[in-house]
Amino acid sequence: MSAHKALPNQTADGRIVILDFGSQYTQLIARRIREQNVYSEVHPFDTEISEVLADDVKGIVLSGGPSNISSDDALLLDRRVLESSIPILGICYGMQLIVEAFGGRICRAERHEYGSADLSILDADGLFRDIPDDGGSETPVWMSHGDGVDKLPPDFVAIGKTPNSPFAAIRHLSRPIIGVQFHPEVAHTPEGKGMLRNFLFEICKCKPTWTPVSFVEEQTKYIRELVGDGKVLCAASGGVDSTVVAELLTQAVGDNLVAIFVDNGLLRKAEVDEVKLLLGDRLGINLIVIDATERFLEALYGVSDPQKKRKIIGNLFIEVFEEAAESIGSCDFLAQGTLYPDVIESVSVKGPSALIKGHHNVWGLPERMNLKLIEPLRPLFKDEVRLIGRELGIPDQILKRQPFPGPGLAVRILGPITDEGLEVLRQADAIVRDEVSRTSLSSDLWQWFAVLLPVKSVGVMGDERTYENTIAIRVVESLDAMTADWARLPHDVLARMSSRIMNEVKGVNRVVYDISSKPPSTIEWE
Ligand code: XMP
Repeated sequence: MSAHKALPNQTADGRIVILDFGSQYTQLIARRIREQNVYSEVHPFDTEISEVLADDVKGIVLSGGPSNISSDDALLLDRRVLESSIPILGICYGMQLIVEAFGGRICRAERHEYGSADLSILDADGLFRDIPDDGGSETPVWMSHGDGVDKLPPDFVAIGKTPNSPFAAIRHLSRPIIGVQFHPEVAHTPEGKGMLRNFLFEICKCKPTWTPVSFVEEQTKYIRELVGDGKVLCAASGGVDSTVVAELLTQAVGDNLVAIFVDNGLLRKAEVDEVKLLLGDRLGINLIVIDATERFLEALYGVSDPQKKRKIIGNLFIEVFEEAAESIGSCDFLAQGTLYPDVIESVSVKGPSALIKGHHNVWGLPERMNLKLIEPLRPLFKDEVRLIGRELGIPDQILKRQPFPGPGLAVRILGPITDEGLEVLRQADAIVRDEVSRTSLSSDLWQWFAVLLPVKSVGVMGDERTYENTIAIRVVESLDAMTADWARLPHDVLARMSSRIMNEVKGVNRVVYDISSKPPSTIEWE
């Protein structure tokens, strides 16, 4: 299905296209450019040429990448990119592509250059205007390459060198084509931001107009025009992305946005009331809460297998949502909180996880119900969504909320789900969350929660032996959930969690702390 194009006037002031040759830093380049208030997008290196050379493209960045330019499977650049008059910045492998294409020579470096190097600036204009900012002529840059430029092409000059790379930065004599062997996008190149700024504003003549405020304004106006008197549905989860979408739509079309929140009986303590209060009362979102607790718990009765649980919950969610949508009457659009990392077709991030997410997001509902998709966050990274959320007046309770899996507590009760198990887990989890909220730890944490284990053990309470449940506390630090490390929580915080859980939650006589990192473990226990 082709997604609805969210932003026809997104690039009124132009955009930068980054062609991805597989560098681990490609997304970072996009972010660094956006931080300078210029919109930029990552595209695969072999993207349709008409997209790369579109009228609103003000500049092209060729990313780094792991290829060896002389190997048979090297990723190649369409020559028409270099024949255009659009300014180009080649980074690392991107620079080598430029050198090779214009008739220079790349050779295997005798020594790999990895780490910081001192760049001597030979031309203090263009890319290096006002760099370094103390007026000197040397600045540290981050190198990470095996191959290097052996011979410059005709019409190119060196504009920077390091002790190991005489051609660490080069430019064409008469055209706006620049190459750097180092990585200006990483924090280890302290003046990299200034270099990118020079590329954007001196060389590409971009305007710094892309901000969360301008984004919200443009989106609101566009959605209002698109939707007219039509009706828009969205699924609310209480999480950051779906709340930002619902609020953006509410500000654009008011009550013509209907947000459906499904209570699947697997939510945390007080979660339904919080969502009603924050989304419905405080943000004024037209919210319908469907109590489907019984249906979910019945369908899950006796099921232990984690993937079966997920499947049952996923399918039932779609069923319940669809019924609710039908009861509302005719609708025209479905709004979704799809983000840029979910859709980015990048060489470096292409992989099964991106695909799974994409399919999960769309659920086939738009076709079945003949709904058009609105995905206003499609071009954005997560932290940009948070900025926009702040702009829309969404409270920190939502913007700083920890991720919560769609299958909810079902994957935190190991084995079959029971009412008693849910009750025990909810209480224990509320204590973990409460104790973290009493500290300033949460800004360094990714997730913090309790898990109910299918393990009973012996304890003693008063004079009596007990034989009760075990709760595991799981607290992790992570940047993107791909890898995670268990958090070194202060012992006194752990002690309070443990003693409160055992004193306040009936049916628990043992608390353990999970000290497993991901990999080899996962964050969730199921
Ligand atoms: P794992 O357990 O794979 O989790 O290390 C990584 C991140 O994904 C979340 N997670 C899920 N989210 N549906 C979701 O929406 C799921 O089935 C699911 N399983 C795990 C998990 O909370 C963590 O943030």
